[in-house]
Amino acid sequence: MTQYMPSILSLVAAATILFAGCSPSPQEIPRKTRAQFGTVDGKDVFLYTLRNKSGMEARITNYGGIVVSLFVPDKSNRPGDVVLGYDSLSSYLKATPYFGAIVGRYGNRIGKARFTLDGKDYMLNANDGPNTLHGGLKGFDKVVWEAAGTTPATEPSLSLSYLSKDGEEGYPGSLKATVVYTLTDSNELRIDYTASTDKPTVLNLTHHSYFNLAGAGSGDILSHELMLNADKFTPIDSGLITTGELKPVEGTPMDFRTPAPVGSRIGVKDDQLRFGRGYDHNWVLNRTGEGLSLAARVSEKTSGRVMEVWTTEPGVQFYSGNFLDGTSIGKGGKAYAYRTGLCLETQHFPDSPNKPAFPSTVLRPGENFKSTTVYKFSVH
Ligand code: GLA
Repeated sequence: MTQYMPSILSLVAAATILFAGCSPSPQEIPRKTRAQFGTVDGKDVFLYTLRNKSGMEARITNYGGIVVSLFVPDKSNRPGDVVLGYDSLSSYLKATPYFGAIVGRYGNRIGKARFTLDGKDYMLNANDGPNTLHGGLKGFDKVVWEAAGTTPATEPSLSLSYLSKDGEEGYPGSLKATVVYTLTDSNELRIDYTASTDKPTVLNLTHHSYFNLAGAGSGDILSHELMLNADKFTPIDSGLITTGELKPVEGTPMDFRTPAPVGSRIGVKDDQLRFGRGYDHNWVLNRTGEGLSLAARVSEKTSGRVMEVWTTEPGVQFYSGNFLDGTSIGKGGKAYAYRTGLCLETQHFPDSPNKPAFPSTVLRPGENFKSTTVYKFSVH
């Protein structure tokens, strides 16, 4: 019976439109809807659809806060899904390289899976050789978040909260994290993060969508043009752990201050590119004071789509999908081959808990953590 449900629902929707006698105006299409996506550990998991007035649609699940689909108009005003992901919850449960997820408690790597805070040593779960990556064995991308029922009358949003227990994955303090996704009418996907803790802890929340502006599953991202607003980056060692230096990008393949195709220098002989198997590095953003500042701009010629990334964070990890190998079969049965998606993960610098000179990632009781990132779409 259940397999017929979507078609019955679409028939009802089509009938409603027919009876209305014309195609629905944007006001008539609900701006936020919810459908069952499955269950995890006995908890309901939903797929929420947010629609704005300018032709964008985001499908987000409260499992891992994952953006499953993001439909964005191209230069001919045709919507296309620009993020990699799966059709079903079971595929996300089997294996995913963090497609579309919220990453925490500490996004990116912490060397040797340990750190010292206020003189106390903490051992974390290692899940990337000797290091911890993206929160450990069961990070924020693998838990069910609680969705708040309300949505403002204007722009559709989804508020997700998660209480991470004291000691989870080795991190100290009960941490309450809330992530609000808003789809604005100016074609932005805005992510507002807030958090508080009852013991000193470290925190680095980010979002891990793999973008392909020509459409998910449509080929590699090597001809996407990229601008990174950064004069420096944080070099890594062969284990992808930051060395602690801030190195000028000048004269290196890391220089994206002038827009360049992702693939233009990815194959040159360079230790950093060898360690990362391509681009998998954090750039130190040229910030202008507090508030949102431009981190990156990506454009793709055939679709005409442009994406800007604005953030309050000091860094961005640009990852060129080097670990994708065609074994992930994504939406519509499309295999995601080598470098067919790129990530721009706004963040504090990797391994900050062990690098005292980097901006601090420590959160203390009584402090309200706040961070915002905006992915803004347009055409050229
Ligand atoms: C991040 C890391 C990469 C890789 C991906 C997930 O971007 O920096 O090294 O682990 O996540 O596959």
